[in-house]
Amino acid sequence: MPESTYKHITDIETSDKEVKVRGWVYRIRKMKDKVFVVLRDATGILQCIGKLEDLSEEAWNNLNEVAIENAIAVKGNAKEDSRAVNNIELVLTDFTIIHKGEVFPIAKDQSKEFMLDNTHLFVRSYKSTNIMKVKANVLRASREWFYDNKFYEVTPPILTGSACEGGSTLFDLKYFDQKAYLSQSVQLYLEALIYSLEKVYAITPSFRAEKMRTKRHINEFWHIEGEEAFVDFEGNMKIQEELVAFIIQYVLENNKKELKELERDTSILEQIKAPFKKISYEEAINTLNENGHKLKWDDDIKTEEERDLSNIIGEPFFVTMYPSAHKPFYVKINERDPKWCYSADLMAPEGFGEIITGGQREDVLDTLVERIIAEGWSPEDYEWYIDLRKYGSVYHSGFGLGAERLTWWLCGLDAIQETQPFPRTRNRIYP
Ligand code: 4AD
Ligand code: MG
Repeated sequence: MPESTYKHITDIETSDKEVKVRGWVYRIRKMKDKVFVVLRDATGILQCIGKLEDLSEEAWNNLNEVAIENAIAVKGNAKEDSRAVNNIELVLTDFTIIHKGEVFPIAKDQSKEFMLDNTHLFVRSYKSTNIMKVKANVLRASREWFYDNKFYEVTPPILTGSACEGGSTLFDLKYFDQKAYLSQSVQLYLEALIYSLEKVYAITPSFRAEKMRTKRHINEFWHIEGEEAFVDFEGNMKIQEELVAFIIQYVLENNKKELKELERDTSILEQIKAPFKKISYEEAINTLNENGHKLKWDDDIKTEEERDLSNIIGEPFFVTMYPSAHKPFYVKINERDPKWCYSADLMAPEGFGEIITGGQREDVLDTLVERIIAEGWSPEDYEWYIDLRKYGSVYHSGFGLGAERLTWWLCGLDAIQETQPFPRTRNRIYP
């Protein structure tokens, strides 16, 4: 059969006769004179009924032989059925097995380890498919927003000689005779590119050799990063809130089915509009202390505190004016009061916490060099980056949004690992 004669499940109409569909067996129930098959394709699931009286001997035999996850092609007449998903049932007139193969090993009630060893098969699950569809739209909406707002997409390197986010989370590797790292963030390269393109973004994998196992960290994630010339700290937050509000709207509009099937209560998401609330680091500490924490100025807001703060505030919010010592060398220091710097984190509500870190970049050459040294790096390794402050330097800002953090929140999942089809975690590089 030529390719074009097959229909996808969501395109089938009740008036369709002799419609051809192909996919995989999602469920099956065999009876003496009829077989119910639920067929799955990329768009959804379709209930099919094959009756002995309607089918050739060969088709009936195929139907009786077929098993879960076999690849199949079917032909049949659509009919309205209020008990079926999409209200359509297909009454089969033909049934072929494209590939039978072996017994599918994934079943209910298997151990977590078994599931993780079989991620390559588990990605076929309904839940995983729904999450991937949401994530695809997170990426698509980001690109659309950047395009509409005249940002250029660029392709910075992932193999790099200069660390961006501190030495403790670096993956290093041998690069011929030199030492290199996997990118933690392409920010420094984006900063170089604003001098020609002014507004740039990149969507790339970032790597963090985080040793801890948490529900919010993975060792490889997709990073949506923007960088803009002639944009200050405030302007940068405006860009972030507009981008994030756009992505949320896009997903709410285009992933209704997926969010429903994931049992996501979208009421908080539906109310989100830019501009977002802004609180200073100091206000964040005070709010936490009013709610039973015992923090001093300069303490880190750690995972548990971040979760509490996110629950207390109940809407997306920026935490601004962080202590300078908390943030990397590239963040601009407040010249009048150097104890704080121009960095902000965008926090999601409902306990999810940080989804973006962004800020204005240090453009005072001597301060930048001092901060690089203070972090224990050698300025020679950052000569190219320091150069950017020597030739036509301009004020500029940027940010990094974690695609998985955002998808995790939008889908309301238990752990971020579920948003990566093949999550890279401390103990697992297989499959
Ligand atoms: O806060 P981070 O480390 O900031 C940067 O990398 C900046 N250089 C970005 C920039 O200004 N261009 O990382 C940014 C975001 C975090 O807010 C989070 O969403 C995500 O990247 N992220 C992770 N996501 C999943 N697992 C991890 N281990 C992550 N580390 C960071
Ligand atoms: Mg951060």
